[in-house]
Amino acid sequence: MKITSDKTQALRRLQEKARAGGGQDRMKARAKAGRLSARERIEHLLDEDTFEEIDLLRKTRATDFGLDEKEIPADGVVTGFGRIRGRNVAVYSQDFTVLGGSLGLSHAQKICKIMDLADETGVPVIGLSDSGGARIQEGVDALGGYAEIFWRNVQSSGRIPQISAILGPCAGGAVYSPAMTDFVFMVRDESYMFITGPEVVKAATGEVCDFDSLGGSDVHASKSGVAHFVANSEQQCFRMIRELLDYLPQNWRDQPRVKSSSDDCNRESETLDRISRRTARHAFDTHEVIREIGDGQNFLEVHRDWARNILCGFIRLNGRAVGVVANNSKVLSGALDIHASEKAARFVRFCDAFNIPLLTLVDVPGYWPGMDQEHRGIIRRGAKLLYAYCEATVPKVTVILRKAYGGAYDVMNSKHVRGDFNFAWPSAEIAVMGPEGAVNILFAKEIKKAKDPTARRTELVDEYSKKFANPFLAAQRGYIDEVIEAGKTRPKLIRAFEFLRTKKVTGPKKKHGNIPL
Ligand code: HXC
Repeated sequence: MKITSDKTQALRRLQEKARAGGGQDRMKARAKAGRLSARERIEHLLDEDTFEEIDLLRKTRATDFGLDEKEIPADGVVTGFGRIRGRNVAVYSQDFTVLGGSLGLSHAQKICKIMDLADETGVPVIGLSDSGGARIQEGVDALGGYAEIFWRNVQSSGRIPQISAILGPCAGGAVYSPAMTDFVFMVRDESYMFITGPEVVKAATGEVCDFDSLGGSDVHASKSGVAHFVANSEQQCFRMIRELLDYLPQNWRDQPRVKSSSDDCNRESETLDRISRRTARHAFDTHEVIREIGDGQNFLEVHRDWARNILCGFIRLNGRAVGVVANNSKVLSGALDIHASEKAARFVRFCDAFNIPLLTLVDVPGYWPGMDQEHRGIIRRGAKLLYAYCEATVPKVTVILRKAYGGAYDVMNSKHVRGDFNFAWPSAEIAVMGPEGAVNILFAKEIKKAKDPTARRTELVDEYSKKFANPFLAAQRGYIDEVIEAGKTRPKLIRAFEFLRTKKVTGPKKKHGNIPL
């Protein structure tokens, strides 16, 4: 018979108490509402039986407002490490049943400890947030605790992937740390993010709003761009995080894992040929192009519902992860506006930081014009994408599918911003602007004077199109390395990225650049 010592039994009692969270009633109410507990979440996220908890017995030292008389199990956060698809990860999960998951000093120190371990061992850190923000009773200790987390978010930025899942109503500091991580997941009808809740908003501004309209998942996925992914359930959210991690390396010195692929590297595509044949005046859905190129038609799209005029996400080419940025002419004709620039710039910088090669698919008529965009800073904010591409040193390959006009031609990983291989389909049009616009400016007087102005304009547009709206002038100058048949895009790209695998370029020495923020 196995004999358990008194001390072991006492330890088990302590552990049990700490694992009880905010108590049976709260736990039951939560389960009844179909919500998982902080520990169940970790179990669902990680590979079975791999979680090792640390700091279970940690307690707050705060005494004000009766905190010393309260049970605050594990100080409201579960921290530890485990595995996802066999890879080490660090994780923390806030427990809303314990003082609303609010963050006091010990709670913050537990998170900081796990962040430090993640950074030192070079593994991704995943935070499951469910918190009312700074624990009001702990005052400046709570604020300081948050700042310690923010500081670590920044120190680890670009060193290890940082992923946040928002799994409840999160306010204040509970949303600022996720905002500084690489990817934010939300769950529809369950997650909310705001600086201050509806009550405070009403008191401060008189605005009446609810959780959903203020900071629900749809708001952050389609309007603010704070959320990169939205899931329909917590379980789906955990599956999505696991899928995303598959494309990422463990840290900045590591490479993403290679997956074996049964998709033929030399596969040609009838669909791409068809798309390129009918593109002269027709917008098309770039999702189709991306899927045709990638292994097994898979595309993990990031920020799917925000700034849909540009698409960002991950595919694999011959098993290797590639980040894709692609204009989408189905929305705003694929023009670059403020949000598209910011969305793509952040994605480019993420891929560059973590050794993920970049594929850019171009179909862009230019920057989106107008008072609204100018006044909201299209010059400053549009420059972010240009900056990001200029700065990126990972292998960078471009395919111009159709339009590449004006400054947007330069921005979208042109040869001039150090694209390694720049391809174009025969349907590509590379020019300062489209034929109609160019003719209207260059020949305004001539058209006015013509006997039949409409006929003359058509004639001039045709002439301009023949001369400039093609990829051949750029190819003659070496700005396009090769004009490729659309159907052969996948094999061409696989060979190009294969060749670039040993590319080694480091940027010029400096403390850090100054991206236009
Ligand atoms: C202490 C808190 C708390 C907090 C919630 N609770 N937030 N306790 N500090 N910040 C407690 C509640 O008192 C309650 O305890 C329990 O958690 C559940 O909260 P409810 O309000 O009943 O839940 P719900 O209706 O779902 O509303 C959730 C909420 C709301 C929207 C998050 O609690 C809220 O607005 N909290 C305050 C948000 C906030 O302003 N935080 C400070 C931000 S400043 P009992 O015992 O009754 O169950 C900040 C600064 C950081 O974070 C620095 C940023 C740069």
